[in-house]
Amino acid sequence: MKKNHKVYIPPTDKSIAHRALILAAISKGNTKISNFSICEDVLATINCLRNLGIKIKLEKNIALVYGKGLYGLKKPRASLNADNSAATMRLLSGLLAGQKFSSIISGKESLLNRPMDRIEKPLSLMGAKIKLYSKKAPIKISSSSLKAIKYKLPMASAQVKSAILLAGLYADGKTQIKEIFPSRNHTEKMLRLFKVEIKTGNKQILLKPGQPKAKNIKIPGDISSAAPFIISACLLKTKTLKISNCLLNPTRMGLIKTLKKMGVGISIKIKNGADKIKAGHEPYGNIEINCKKIKACAIRKTEIPSMIDELTLLMLAATQALGTTKIYGAGELKYKESDRIKSILTLIRDIGGAIKYKNNIFTIEGPQKLKGGISINTSDHRIAMTAAVANLISENPVKILNKNCIKKSYTDFFSDFNNFFGKYD
Ligand code: S3P
Repeated sequence: MKKNHKVYIPPTDKSIAHRALILAAISKGNTKISNFSICEDVLATINCLRNLGIKIKLEKNIALVYGKGLYGLKKPRASLNADNSAATMRLLSGLLAGQKFSSIISGKESLLNRPMDRIEKPLSLMGAKIKLYSKKAPIKISSSSLKAIKYKLPMASAQVKSAILLAGLYADGKTQIKEIFPSRNHTEKMLRLFKVEIKTGNKQILLKPGQPKAKNIKIPGDISSAAPFIISACLLKTKTLKISNCLLNPTRMGLIKTLKKMGVGISIKIKNGADKIKAGHEPYGNIEINCKKIKACAIRKTEIPSMIDELTLLMLAATQALGTTKIYGAGELKYKESDRIKSILTLIRDIGGAIKYKNNIFTIEGPQKLKGGISINTSDHRIAMTAAVANLISENPVKILNKNCIKKSYTDFFSDFNNFFGKYD
């Protein structure tokens, strides 16, 4: 096959995989999850669910989950280990809050440094008995009965929203959530698919507690994993990148929308029908990237959640875009696998670029020459992937010392990346 005729197929969407496993575990009936690939974060969710007594069979690209119903989980023999996955920890905390047994959920040191009080607050309002250590994990959850609440999310966080919704399945009435701006809606969609009564719209969610019913699902490819490929294709300009089986959920499309504003040629073909999407299936399809030029743009605070995991790549792209790019209200970056505000400022400056951050606004003037010639030691998968792209466009190599950190979200990143953009190293 000719080089530019290759089609890129991203690995399974990690956010959706967590939710599929969790909902399947508490469903009535068995769920077959197809197009299922495993990264470290998803493995953490599998291991926790197995320790809660759920049988999960893994075959090639398929996970078979034997659902035990809302009250079928078993008290784990030891602390649950969320490894380095905040989604595992936060979503499972919501689920565990509704159980008739107590449990402890812990994880790797890096996860123990991330804020967990954001879930403690709403779950405690629901009557959950939750104990943190200085606002952080390990999280101790004791058995209690949950009541329905009306809750206004103080930040746009899909993980917090999902923890409340999962606890809401065990509440004594309808749970109501108001979002400041919309964040990814995979939990809401999957609850609908699993026949739980849920109403959404106008930044409001209304959930009626109920028993999810098993449903076979196919998970699309991860747009966040595709992001370094998309940005590389844009910055190398000569490449047309064809992507197939990619998630096209509007709550995750911020990167694509922004690149369109930046003048990148992008065509999108949705593969599933409106009726399927309405029933709760995720929209998926093909994306084609064809970049001749790239110009600066402004990203508003309300748009941030739809590209939260892609922002560091966009900032790197902005160094090559003509004009001044401004990114407003991305303060949530501070609470990711690293303080990504600090990490991206350091990375771009270390490779010889210029980026300013003041009053919660990033300012990047482009185009700039990037010198590279550094080794970066990060444990943050998104920063490492951004460095891999920086390596392609810098005068001298950008070496990643801890390449394995990318396995958190993308097991075969380097072999896929090398396949499209040449040998890394
Ligand atoms: C995720 C939500 C986002 C995102 C994370 C995955 C999810 O985090 O950054 O990578 O699966 O719900 P927040 O909920 O903290 O914004």
